Amino acid sequence: MAFKVAVAGATGNVGREMLAILEERGFPVSEVVALASRRSLGTEVSFGDRTLKVKALDTYDFSDTDICLMSAGGSVSKEWSPKIGAQGCVVIDNSSAWRYDADVPLIVPEVNPGAIDGFRKRNIIANPNCSTAQMLVALKPLHDRARIRRVVVSTYQSVSGAGKEGMDELFTQSRAVFVADPIEPKKFTKRIAFNVIPHIDVFMEDGSTKEEWKMVAETKKMLDPKIKVTATCVRVPVFIGHSEAVNLEFEQPITAEEARAILADAPGCLVVDRPENGGYATPIECAGEDATFISRIREDGTVENGLNLWIVSDNLRKGAALNAVQIAELLVARGLIAPRARAA
Ligand SMILES: NC(=O)c1ccc[n+]([C@@H]2O[C@H](COP(=O)([O-])OP(=O)(O)OC[C@H]3O[C@@H](n4cnc5c(N)ncnc54)[C@H](OP(=O)(O)O)[C@@H]3O)[C@@H](O)[C@H]2O)c1
Repeated sequence: MAFKVAVAGATGNVGREMLAILEERGFPVSEVVALASRRSLGTEVSFGDRTLKVKALDTYDFSDTDICLMSAGGSVSKEWSPKIGAQGCVVIDNSSAWRYDADVPLIVPEVNPGAIDGFRKRNIIANPNCSTAQMLVALKPLHDRARIRRVVVSTYQSVSGAGKEGMDELFTQSRAVFVADPIEPKKFTKRIAFNVIPHIDVFMEDGSTKEEWKMVAETKKMLDPKIKVTATCVRVPVFIGHSEAVNLEFEQPITAEEARAILADAPGCLVVDRPENGGYATPIECAGEDATFISRIREDGTVENGLNLWIVSDNLRKGAALNAVQIAELLVARGLIAPRARAA
């Protein structure tokens, strides 16, 4: 059984990673099609040792494609995902366009695989925000054991979370600092080189940012609507890998030692936690890896049943492309999708 898979946004940071991960994990494909905007028509991207010529999304016929991994931004997804879904192709979308729609499952396979069942209502499945995905991989097994009551999270998010332009801006500005060229922020609101910016996505009425709101809403949708979450999301001058300092309050007692043992056995988690120089994970080691790394596990005596964690993961992989491919694998493993008949 093999599937025709389209990757929409194939020239982007996440799209390229999707192509790499489909190949690495041996996802059963009969054909892979690379799609992007008309600007990229005819450019080439790699799929294993093959080269794919990029086609334009807006002229592509999805009627015999089984799965579309969509990573072309929110407005493109808003317009195209319903049209693609209506043609019988299942869309796994990376943007925030559909995450909060009651008829669209929002899935992290290690967290809420059972929620995928309702996907046929729209033929769209949403991939969460990168910061939420990695946090919930670590929180789910702890919640199962001791019920999390409240989460206080501060993020340290890499510039690749803002796409190719974000990475280019950090590179260009860093160079400009050394050669004393003028620096003009474009993608980010302030200089990102040798700086940190406490602002990701737009501001909401209550003074929080949309990125912070996403962490709250998505945690409630995927893990438990009763959990209280407060987030501060910060952009840092790191190319790949988001880090998070997380403070948790549980309903039941749980020690750091128990948490370490639970996380060491949990799917998708890798505990790197030695209280010594270098005995913790940083983004540099996590880039290119699939796991969510958990370090600095320690009790917080200032609240009842409190724990602190440091969570790091590759935002382009678990935060986006890997999670999307795992959702496709989940569809196949549960027998929820079969290859469509194709004209000879
Ligand atoms: N980066 C992350 O950590 C992360 C995590 C979770 C979710 N996401 C989401 O994933 C999506 C892509 O992010 P990214 O980091 O890969 O961005 P990116 O590097 O800027 O790439 C954007 C991709 O979208 C394509 N695109 C733009 N406009 C299009 C249009 N009108 N029609 C078809 N294709 C179009 C671009 O094609 P051209 O090259 O032709 O312009 C490119 O392939 C976004 O929705 C983002 O929010 C990203």
